[in-house]
Amino acid sequence: MAPSDIITVPRISAMKARGEKITCLTAYDWLTAGLLDAAGIDIILVGDSGAMVFAGHETTLPITMEQMLYHAAAVSRGVKRGLVIADMPFLSYQVSGDQALENAGRFLKESGAAGVKLEGGRRIADTVRRIVSAGIPVMGHLGLTPQSIRSFGDYRVRGEVQDEAGAIREDARILEEAGAFAVVLEKIPAGLAAEITQSLSIPTIGIGAGPHCDGQVIVTPDMLGLFESFRPKFVRRYAELAETIRTAASRFADDVKNGRFPSDEESFK
Ligand code: KIV
Repeated sequence: MAPSDIITVPRISAMKARGEKITCLTAYDWLTAGLLDAAGIDIILVGDSGAMVFAGHETTLPITMEQMLYHAAAVSRGVKRGLVIADMPFLSYQVSGDQALENAGRFLKESGAAGVKLEGGRRIADTVRRIVSAGIPVMGHLGLTPQSIRSFGDYRVRGEVQDEAGAIREDARILEEAGAFAVVLEKIPAGLAAEITQSLSIPTIGIGAGPHCDGQVIVTPDMLGLFESFRPKFVRRYAELAETIRTAASRFADDVKNGRFPSDEESFK
């Protein structure tokens, strides 16, 4: 891979400047990350959504630093071109600035990720400044931030009422000022996302935030039709892999039970 083909933070910024849409998908393992990278996805996000879609938890809250580092290292080994960004898990950056910087640094040193993502605006601005000033790229995350689900109480659209919309707008501006290189906008009205996208010089990456963001992200097992527990309105399915896997597994079981696998060709003399 020529160095000029590799996606860097400045290249992501340049994409916004020239109006080129940015693609982002989540990955939790080497195999999937390599496939997404080969398809030309710009940002591979090691999301803490892995707590739910990989590990089967009900929320993103239980995943730990060590588990996220394990996933991020596996993903980084599979990615040659894309920008790998790792989610900082719940309570890995809220306790103190020292703790946040140390944990953010671990992702770059130990997993090979190129940057980290944190949820929140004003309340984490000093932390973002501190991490960025150490040379670690930070992606922000506003709107329906899943690590705050216990405070929100539900997964409804955020920013529908004026106060909340104003706070999200202000948080986006604060994150830009603090040095974030991009911001994820999750589950907010399309009009609000368009307004924020226009007002910022850094790219917005939308998930359930309408078509006017600078880029789009989907949780990969959602878009592959692998995760079936629930299906948000903003998910478009590009495959039905759960059904494909069930069918393949039941064909395998049928062949074994009926003595059709393995054949002589699949055996050693
Ligand atoms: O954890 C995750 O997958 C995310 C995306 C939904 C943006 O944060």
